[in-house]
Order: sequence, then C-alpha cells, then structure tokens
Amino acid sequence: MKNKSELFFEKQLKEHGANVVISTDDGSAGRKGSASELAKEILQQEEIDAVITCGPEMMMKALLDYCDNITFQASLERYMKCAMGICGQCCIGKGLRVCKDGPVFDGKTLKDFEDFGIYRRDSAGRKIQF
Ligand code: FES
Repeated sequence: MKNKSELFFEKQLKEHGANVVISTDDGSAGRKGSASELAKEILQQEEIDAVITCGPEMMMKALLDYCDNITFQASLERYMKCAMGICGQCCIGKGLRVCKDGPVFDGKTLKDFEDFGIYRRDSAGRKIQF
C-alpha cells in the first residue's frame, strides 16, 4: 500500500483473529517499506509453512526469489480476451494460460517462467516491462 488511506479490511481481519502486519510506502501505517521486504523479515524470524500471495507481480516475484524451501502459490493476472483458453492472450511461460491453467501457480512452476515479474502483454500482444 502506498499509504494508510489504501488499507482495507484491517479491522474485520483482526476481529476474526488474523495476525495482521502492515507496511506502507510512506510509513503512515505499519512499517515503512514494501510488503515483500516485510514478508522477508517475517520469514527470517518465524517458521512459515506456506506463502500464498496475490498483488503486483514484481512484489510476488521478489517474494518468490526469497522462498526457496517454502511452499509458494501466487495468483496471477494477465490481460484476457476469451478467458477460456482459446486465444492465447494470457499466455505465460512456455504456453501456459493464466485463464485456463491458472490463475494460481506454484513456486516451482513460476520459477520456470522467464516472463514472471519481468513483463506482461497488452491488448495487442506487445510486451510491457513491469
Ligand atoms: S484469455 Fe484467451 S487464452 Fe486466456
């Protein structure tokens, strides 16, 4: 999150017993800095069974690079046209389709994707660097 105004469901998550840790880019809530850096600190301090993530792909890539021996799953987003596996617009890696084969991929699969966290494709299929 950029700042405190972008936080949501904090109160509801805490009411349900979740251990909520927060980082904001400007430090207006929680720790100042990126979510991936905060997650790395937690992974160093605690025994974590699995990392399940969604959000900006560069953040997920940074986290994946840190999770060598931890079960890892990420939910990806790609520009979609057909959303049923026909057009190939949402392809990632070596021909997997986010709409049909995902959107959740495990860490082992993601590590084989040369484009994960590097680029996506726009509506015309052009590569857009993250
Ligand atoms: S959006 Fe067409 S294959 Fe995924």
